[in-house]
Amino acid sequence: HFDGHDEIWLFGYGSLIWKVDFAYLERRPASIHGWSRRFWQGSHDHRGTPEAPGRVATLVREPGAVCHGMAYRITPEVLAPLDVREKNGYLREVVALHFSDGDSAEGLIYLATEENAAFLGDAPLDAIAAQIACAHGPSGPNRDYLLNLAEALRELEVEDSHVFALARRLT
Ligand code: BEZ
Repeated sequence: HFDGHDEIWLFGYGSLIWKVDFAYLERRPASIHGWSRRFWQGSHDHRGTPEAPGRVATLVREPGAVCHGMAYRITPEVLAPLDVREKNGYLREVVALHFSDGDSAEGLIYLATEENAAFLGDAPLDAIAAQIACAHGPSGPNRDYLLNLAEALRELEVEDSHVFALARRLT
């Protein structure tokens, strides 16, 4: 049981938008306020190696910002395998999810902060793009992660200047 609820919303902003390998009851495009998606998390186990880590998305607090993603209504059992999949020691937080029809709900986010050992932080966009272009890991090329995410956001018809600026540099 998760806080006494048998269903919870999970907000996906990275691979969870386009790589759905878990069971969900419902999914809805959603956004979270006061957060930005940034390629600031290192990946040495999925999209890179310890010698040449890749970069994947995390969430950073930014007043006034909006991050668009996909919310999944799930049963709490689904979280256990997700914790294994995202084995980089992400933190969980509960935030408000906003749906396009004006509804809102509480939902869970996973994020990596500077306290995460794999966290890389900010760098010039050209440097981030170059790192993504070179990195490969057990889950595949880092480039595919970025371009799959950009494509999914385009399909959702939402804006993300950071992701689209990086994707332009990789195509
Ligand atoms: C996501 O794609 O939303 C996600 C990324 C890292 C950990 C958990 C979820």
